[in-house]
Amino acid sequence: MNVHERVAGAMPRLRRLAACCLAGALSSAILGAYAATAFDAIAPIFAQRCVMCHNGDAAPLGLRLDSLENVLKGSQKGAVVKSGDPDASELVRRIRGQSQPRMPLTGPPFLGADEIALIENWVAGGLVAGTGAAKPSQPDRPKAGEAVTYLHVAPILLQRCAKCHAANGLKGAPPEGYRLDTWEETIARADRLRVVPGNPAASELVRRIRGQALPRMPFDGPPYLAEEDILLIEQWIRQGARDAQGKPAPAPAGASLRLHGTLNNINNTWELDGLPLSVDAATRIDKRPGPGDYVEVRATVQRDGAVRANRIRRR
Ligand code: HEC
Ligand code: HEC
Repeated sequence: MNVHERVAGAMPRLRRLAACCLAGALSSAILGAYAATAFDAIAPIFAQRCVMCHNGDAAPLGLRLDSLENVLKGSQKGAVVKSGDPDASELVRRIRGQSQPRMPLTGPPFLGADEIALIENWVAGGLVAGTGAAKPSQPDRPKAGEAVTYLHVAPILLQRCAKCHAANGLKGAPPEGYRLDTWEETIARADRLRVVPGNPAASELVRRIRGQALPRMPFDGPPYLAEEDILLIEQWIRQGARDAQGKPAPAPAGASLRLHGTLNNINNTWELDGLPLSVDAATRIDKRPGPGDYVEVRATVQRDGAVRANRIRRR
């Protein structure tokens, strides 16, 4: 048997082998892609980065991204995903930045390359529904005795606040330069603190969601936040405004504050909606404010946590 004959004799076996293994590789690739790109896998990305704007009656261009049904319904302009064809899908083009404005509108940061690939695979793979097990992220409540961290409050801030308070939100630049789309930005000191770790009553953020400081937040409310969400945010601040890993925010001593609220006592102690203010001869007091008056307070957090008023002005 010469070499040619031997190879020829082996050919059918080789072909069979190739066919078997190729099919195996293909089907496992397809299965892998299907398993990874059902709607279940991308719903959490939409919930975290898109649904804050793309939901309800005011959804931009009528496009809701809060359920598979609504994603498939598309916008006033038509379908945003074309099964099997990511390049022709407006949703994919928007997250890649091929169509402008790029999504999420709040970016940068935009979606990560892995998140974009997952969504592309979902479209390429035929818009597989999955089990429907993935629910839009509901704020996870801390268990009894567990510390409240950013993980517990982030879903509230992302869904109700970040559509404006982001690098490029619905109002353009973030209002008052204040972003609420990351822990670092939420607790940032910058020009002043809006979250005073350990002291919810001295936190303008709490005053705004309670409506003690005006305009009340969220700016597009009502509806405002549910009482249980407000209590959770207060608890988070009281426990030190911890990050997602549980590390408390830096101590606020020396930070500047700008607070709004109603004076409810100026006799022995000055109080802003129950928050004691330390007032002395150096405090500048404008327009003769008295109990019941709505005021703006410029203050500094002292080392012992006291809120020292530098200026109190009737509004
Ligand atoms: C801050 C609010 C906001 C966020 C967050 C946001 N969008 Fe948008 N989106 C808009 C606005 C406003 C438009 C309309 C812009 C335009 O095209 O004029 C829009 C338009 C779109 C369109 C175009 C629809 C069409 O038919 O042309 C798609 C697709 C889209 N968004 C997908 C997304 C996705 C996916 C995400 C999350 C990754 C996201 N958006 C996050 C506000 C937002
Ligand atoms: C629809 C847009 C929009 C949404 C949503 C929104 N805000 Fe605002 N926010 C604004 C605007 C506009 C201002 C400036 C208002 C003013 O004082 O004139 C502002 C101001 C603030 C301030 C004052 C900042 C400072 O420097 O004193 C805080 C704190 C705040 N918002 C927190 C929130 C929180 C918390 C949420 C979510 C529960 C929220 N906002 C949702 C638009 C928005």
